Amino acid sequence: MSVTIATAPGKIILFGEHAVVYGRPAIAAPVTQVRATAAVEPNPAKGVRLRAPDLSRDYGLDDAPIDDPFARAVQVVIDASGPLPRPNLIVSVSSTIPIASGLGSGAAMAAAVIRAIAHHLGRPDLADDGRVSAMTYEVERLLHGTPSGIDNTVVSYEQPVYFVRRQPQNLIETIKPATPLRFLVADTGVTSMTRDVVGDVRRQWLAQPGAFEEIFDGCGRIAVAARQAIEAGQIERLGQLMRENQDYLRRMTVSCPELETLVAAAGGAGAWGAKLSGAGRGGNMIALVSEESEGAVRGALLSAGARAVFTSLVG
Ligand code: PMV
Repeated sequence: MSVTIATAPGKIILFGEHAVVYGRPAIAAPVTQVRATAAVEPNPAKGVRLRAPDLSRDYGLDDAPIDDPFARAVQVVIDASGPLPRPNLIVSVSSTIPIASGLGSGAAMAAAVIRAIAHHLGRPDLADDGRVSAMTYEVERLLHGTPSGIDNTVVSYEQPVYFVRRQPQNLIETIKPATPLRFLVADTGVTSMTRDVVGDVRRQWLAQPGAFEEIFDGCGRIAVAARQAIEAGQIERLGQLMRENQDYLRRMTVSCPELETLVAAAGGAGAWGAKLSGAGRGGNMIALVSEESEGAVRGALLSAGARAVFTSLVG
């Protein structure tokens, strides 16, 4: 029996999280070491079966809760494939991307499922990066209300992107680092729900619009400068910009003691710069390192309580 497989990577946000929801530019990159994988095969029985063996889940599409992101991903692509009789499929997902930790696990799962089903149904047009990204966005909306669109974009295009949320169409530009950027990604071990953190930032923005607009503007300026530094290979400058971005994220109250401890440990051990990545209040932080400083920074992060540390090269 033919099985169709597709994968999608995790992601890190290098600059501009939260401010990107409010139309400021941001930069994100795929993390190819961790991936979501979807496998699609014909179902000998009638209907669509959803399987997530890692989570011990096996259920029918029609029995899925209304807010189930896996079922939504399957439904979105089946709907897009047109008014055909609904196919009989078994869709299985697995992932090495830690959940609720700012690495884009939900978006990657959706993108892998959408791409695998599109290919399986003989619809490569629906598996095109732009279409996968748009459908993944629909699933992201279920996960966290007002997503900016950066997560679905980076996991679908699988390239570093400079992204601006705007109407009628988002600005998406892929970027090419002049030299590969070496990041350590360190997990605080604290999970946090993007939806809650994004909602809390919104409440604060509504209560103090002036102060928050100024913070978002600052993050936007940093993202613009960071893009130039990435394209010019100015690593030291990039590290400085990460530190400045972290200052703004702290003012947004999306950092937390565990993140601050890791950021300080990375800085103390010789990282060019470090900041939280993603929604914050837990999840992962990233540190920009050189080949020479990598070992010391990794050791410092683990001693400071990081649950896991891995290297991710961008470019
Ligand atoms: O999904 P996370 O935790 O990586 O966070 C997404 C980044 C935010 O800017 C906080 C939200 C968004 O939709 O862009």
